[in-house]
Formats: sequence, C-alpha cells, structure tokens
Amino acid sequence: MAKEDIFKNLIAHCKEYGFIFQSSEIYDGLGAVYDYGQNGVELKNNIKKYWWDSMILLHENVVGLDSAIFMHPKTWKASGHLDAFNDPLIDNKDSKKRYRADMLIEEYLEKLEGKISKEVNKAAKKFGDSFDEKMFRETNPRVKANQEKIDVLTKRFADAMNNTNLEDLKQIILDYEIACPVSGTRNWTDVRQFNLMFATEMGSTADGATKIYLRPETAQGIFVNYINVQKTGRMKLPFGIAQIGKAFRNEIVARQFIFRMREFEQMEMQYFIKPGTEEEWFDHWKKIRMKWHRALDLGKDNYRFHDHDKLAHYAAAATDIEFRFPFGFREVEGIHSRTNFDLGQHQEFSGKKLQYFDPETNKSFVPYVVETSLGLDRIFLQIISAAYCEEEVKKDDGSVDSRVVFKLPPVLAPVKLAVLPLVKKDGLPEISRKIMDDLKFEFNCRYEEKDSIGRRYRRQDAIGTPFCITVDHQTKEDNTVTIRYRDSMKQERVKIEKLREIMVDKVDMSRFLRKLATGSDAKD
Ligand code: GAP
Repeated sequence: MAKEDIFKNLIAHCKEYGFIFQSSEIYDGLGAVYDYGQNGVELKNNIKKYWWDSMILLHENVVGLDSAIFMHPKTWKASGHLDAFNDPLIDNKDSKKRYRADMLIEEYLEKLEGKISKEVNKAAKKFGDSFDEKMFRETNPRVKANQEKIDVLTKRFADAMNNTNLEDLKQIILDYEIACPVSGTRNWTDVRQFNLMFATEMGSTADGATKIYLRPETAQGIFVNYINVQKTGRMKLPFGIAQIGKAFRNEIVARQFIFRMREFEQMEMQYFIKPGTEEEWFDHWKKIRMKWHRALDLGKDNYRFHDHDKLAHYAAAATDIEFRFPFGFREVEGIHSRTNFDLGQHQEFSGKKLQYFDPETNKSFVPYVVETSLGLDRIFLQIISAAYCEEEVKKDDGSVDSRVVFKLPPVLAPVKLAVLPLVKKDGLPEISRKIMDDLKFEFNCRYEEKDSIGRRYRRQDAIGTPFCITVDHQTKEDNTVTIRYRDSMKQERVKIEKLREIMVDKVDMSRFLRKLATGSDAKD
C-alpha cells in the first residue's frame, strides 16, 4: 500500500480507537487543533514521563518548572517574537490558497533530492554489490546537474531567509517556476510577513484591557524565572530548567495531522552555562538527546541530524533531530545554542539583573544557554507512525487473516496488560478480577470478557497492549495463565505469582531509564 494511504489509515485508526479526535468535531472541527482521547492521553502522559524523568532524575543539576501561559507583554518585545517571529506567506491568485513561501521552496528542493535518490536506487539495483554510490554521485551527469541546482538554490534561499529578503523569496519561486499545487499556475502575490503569535486581551474594561499573547514557546517562562530558580535552588552553573507545557502558533499552513498544530505542547530544557563553553555543551546535549530518541527503538535508519542554514533570531547554532515520517524526514526536536540573547534582552527590558556570580573568578556575567526543544505532539506522531502495522496473519488452519497492530514501545503503551477470562462463567471472571486488583496499582490494566478471545486480542493489538493474560479452566487447577505477546503473538504459560515480575521487567519506566543511563539492558 502507498505510504499516503497508510498515513490516512493511521489517522482513521487514531479516531476509531480513542487516540486522537478533531477538536470540536460536532461543529465540523477547528483547523489544526486536536483532542487526545482515552488511549491518546495515556500514551501522551507516558511520553511526558519518559522525557521528564530522563531530565530530572538522570541529571542532578536539572530542575523543573511550570510557568504560566500568559506572560507580561514586554516578554515578547524583549524575546524578539513580536518583531521577528514571522513566516513569509504568499497567495496564489487563481486558487486563492495561501502558502508559506519557504515551504514551497523547501518542497521544490525535496523534489530535486527525490530525483537524485531515484537515480541512485536505480543504479544500485543495476550494479548490485559492485555499486559505488559516491563515485556514481560524482560522475553521473543528471545527478550532478540536480546536485548543483540544489547547492545554488540552498545558498540563495538561506541568504534570502537570513536577510528577510521577501522580494528574492518571490523571485526564487518565479525563477524556479514553482506552481501552486492546487491551480497549477504561477500567478503569485508578493511575499508578506505574518506574525505567528495569538493575541488576546486581559482585563475587564475596553480601555483598561491589556493586549497579551499566548506563548509561542515555553522557553520564555524559563528565562524570566532564571534568577528565581538559581537563587532559591542555590544552583551553580551549569544547570538546567525543564518544562512541559502548551504553546500556540497561528500556523499559516497546518497539515499532516498533528505534525503542525496551532495549539501544541513542548518539552523544553534550557541549560545555563558559562560563556565560552557553548560548543562543548551543544555537542553534549546533541548526543544525549539522540540517545534518548534511539532508546525507543523505532528503526536505526530513521534518525538524522539536520544543521540549520537559516537560524532563528535568537540562535547562534542550531540542529534538528529529524525522524523519517511516512511523508519524509522531518524535524522532531531542535537543539539551539541561544548565547546570552534571551537573558540579555530580559535584563535590558526589565531593568533587573539576570546575572550569575562566579565564586571562582569573583566575576558576574549573563549566562549562555543551550536549549533542547521537543514537540510532544510531534514525537507522539513519530511513535504512532512507526508503530502502526497492517499485517497478514496465518491462522492454525492455514487460512490468512489480517490484523492492525500498534507496535508501541511497551514502556509507553497506554494499556500495559489486558486480563481476559476465556469464558464469562465458572469462576474465571473472579480470578481475572483478582489478578487486576493485584496489578492495577502499578500498571494500567484492562479487563475484557465480551466477544471471542480472538476478537479481544485484536482489540488489544489495535491499541498497542503488549500483553494479554488469559485465564482459563487450567488456571483453577494450577494457578497458571497464558501470556500472549502482542508482536510475536506467541503464548506462554506462567504462574500467576510471576506476572508482576514479568511486567516490571518489560514495562517499568525506571528499568527503561536505567537502561538509557547505563547504555546496557536493564535486566543485567
Ligand atoms: N524554544 C525553541 C522553539 O520553540 P522550534 O524549533 O520553533 O523551537 C521546537 O520548536 C519544537 O516544537 C519543534 O521541533 C517541534 O517539535 C515543535 N513544534 C513547533 N511548532 C509546532 C507546531 N506548530 N505543531 C506541533 N509541534 C510544533
């Protein structure tokens, strides 16, 4: 099946099984705003716990914060968001569709890259083991021509973006004959800047009301609290402040489901450091964050770093951790070297000292910052798109059945185990309930007695439950149950008193974190 069709099926699956609903659906929905259903919220909370515990428990110099969404309006003047947090937009006069000019150009670049990959794959197939990809890329005339086109355009595009040269952005679109995907024409308006912040009013009377903004990033709540946390926590550099919270952006182009939303959640950590050490810490956090991602085991070839050509207004260096989504490699997390830009600006605009006194040198300075910024909804999408599988299953009688299974990392699965009495009588429900009552304090368990056991397995597969425990008549004789494993569908008979130990081994967050911290298997 084509990747786009699988992605459509995934979206439908998320609705059918209570993961994600369109916001205000009964009123025909609200663009790029989504609600998380009964299973989605569990998965989301587990992802948050993985991130939070890895930051706070595994780093004794990282502490947490929960700052308000509303902030003093001067915050956004100081941070540069009022003046510089813009996207360049362009309209097609025939289709009346609005686009981000930078995205049109990026998509064009992706198409050129796709052409190169096609040539390379064709040649790799033709030449087999003797294929030398490097040599092929350097010598094949079509590949060389496209690569040259990419290099020239990338440079011109980066210059236009870095200098906010809107005329040249439009000129690039015209020069490269980029057409509207809907009308197919090149009848474009000029490129204009569009500020992404949502504004609202605080206060009860029209003249007394103050214009305030919904925060477009959680980071500023951390910066304005830097001195509070540093002083009350007696923190010494380097130290970090981590926060999970909502952010809001009036995205021009919001698509690909929960990839680009107008209301979303970020998991951000600002690491305050001495000036001059920023390169070292930037590299350090790049490694730590990539290791965190890879521990989820979503395919070793599905990750890459992508260094920015165009830097955000606050950044001196930036890289993205990208994941291979069904629609290509895309950013999941940004790692930014923010220098002392933010604290320096807040110091100037507030008139309050936001400095660190270094007892070793007896000098005060504004700390530098390295930031890690992960979109919670985006990693949610990453996890479900890697986990979604439509499989053919051979039955015992030789016939073929199909199943949809969410192969979620067990530690993140919304429901960890389902307890299923084989029949609704003979005391089996009572034994099942007793098992639930023993395990429910540690693991999210679900009890199901309706329908055949096969259908119940399929329902649990669809929500990603890693273990189904079946209670049958043999249970009454020898206190054993079967565990059925989601991915292999294998079944194993085990003693009831062993269940907790097995569960802890497979789904316990602290075991998982130990593995992450030591780089070894938690069982060792
Ligand atoms: N504080 C830095 C910052 O906000 P960013 O690259 O603009 O940097 C960080 O955003 C992360 O937030 C992105 O890597 C992405 O995962 C997530 N994100 C940004 N905009 C988003 C949107 N409209 N919808 C969902 N996630 C978004």
